[in-house]
Amino acid sequence: MLYLLDTANADEIARLVDAYPVCGVTTNPAILGQEGAEPARQLRLIRQAIGPQRMLHAQVTGKDAETMVREALALRDAVGESFYVKIPAVPEGLRAMPALKKEGLKVTATAIFDTSQALLFARAGADFVAPYVSRLDNIGADGVDIVEEIMHDFKEYGVTTGVLAASFRTADQIRRLAKHGITAVTVTPAFLEALLWHPMTDDAMRRFDAAWAKLTGGRDWTQLL
Ligand code: G3P
Repeated sequence: MLYLLDTANADEIARLVDAYPVCGVTTNPAILGQEGAEPARQLRLIRQAIGPQRMLHAQVTGKDAETMVREALALRDAVGESFYVKIPAVPEGLRAMPALKKEGLKVTATAIFDTSQALLFARAGADFVAPYVSRLDNIGADGVDIVEEIMHDFKEYGVTTGVLAASFRTADQIRRLAKHGITAVTVTPAFLEALLWHPMTDDAMRRFDAAWAKLTGGRDWTQLL
């Protein structure tokens, strides 16, 4: 499973990118809006923070296919090759797909809420589809079930498009998706840190430290060997 950060906060990204196995960053207009900074500058800062290899996903804002393609090309020029253009799962987005693929752009179809949308964009050549798990839960559906259905259908048809699930509230949503081999998840910095934390680990550490302090006065191996 690949882990991405769903944030545009360059400081948080820089803090976590080396400490956690993060393979990219996803943004969208709302996420960039949270930073309140000039978005083009912010994307460049994110690229600086993650380096040239990690994926950077940024979303077009145009309403027609032609504008989307022009935006995608401009974004690729600005943020480099490991760039994925996020195309919303709307009719004009689907219409943009042939031109995007012809230009060699990598595409993440976003704001996916149903397997029909996912299959259409996969067929059109999307590299990833990004379903929003908790937003489905919020309207009384089961977001994880729907993502599992997408994964099942992709398998059924031999589709190689990755599933990049987003919009998480609980670690259990990720656990359930991991069981079914989700390709990738994108989470906030706080959520990523919460995935590592466990009270029993903290308890184990307290016990190790107490035993070691008693044995060595708290010296580490470099002081003992
Ligand atoms: O990447 C999509 C994501 O930002 C939506 O998440 O938490 O606003 O539902 P959320």
